[in-house]
Amino acid sequence: MIFTVAIDGPAAAGKGTVARAVAARFGFAHLDTGLLYRAVGARAAAGEDPVAAARDLAPADLARGDLRSLEAGQWASRVAVLPEVRAALVDFQRGFARRAGGAVLDGRDIGTVIYPEAEVKLYVTASDEVRAERRRQETGGEAAAVLADLRARDARDAARDAAPMRPAPDAVLLDTTELTIDAAVERAVSLVDAALRGGPA
Ligand code: DC
Repeated sequence: MIFTVAIDGPAAAGKGTVARAVAARFGFAHLDTGLLYRAVGARAAAGEDPVAAARDLAPADLARGDLRSLEAGQWASRVAVLPEVRAALVDFQRGFARRAGGAVLDGRDIGTVIYPEAEVKLYVTASDEVRAERRRQETGGEAAAVLADLRARDARDAARDAAPMRPAPDAVLLDTTELTIDAAVERAVSLVDAALRGGPA
């Protein structure tokens, strides 16, 4: 069976949590595509050419322990504006989207560019303040600085020419500002369930 769930949205909206939970519930494979850009960014931060890094990205790059920091996120967002970096990562993501047994991919451009044919497309958002507080609980740091960091990254991700962050026209919007994570997961699961049965949720 080929069945793809595309989950996009800004930083720290909860898309990773929803993606992991949906994948676990249905036995689908999960790809956090942000990790690809974070791994390229980490190599660029060490002085490498980001396009060359994207072209020979290896599993060991994704296993680095330093990819989750705010700084790694900014580097990821900066290399992600480069069309050649994005192009180098497309085939891997499309292959993953079509793998047998079902796949969930989360990122910024999955439903718009990587796999617009996905059976389920979600765009997960939350208010800036709620997202910043969630991120601060993971990374520590000062609330105002974390909020400024998220806003800078979102602005860059949405304004770039190459595959900007935006909802696919037919994506279901899931605003997690006032939803518990369990409620957001249940909504996503019921949408996937309905699509698997061939009808609306
Ligand atoms: O999901 P994340 O916060 O780990 O992503 C880090 C950065 O990578 C994000 O700010 C922009 C970039 N990114 C992208 O351009 N396209 C994707 N599909 C995923 C991430």
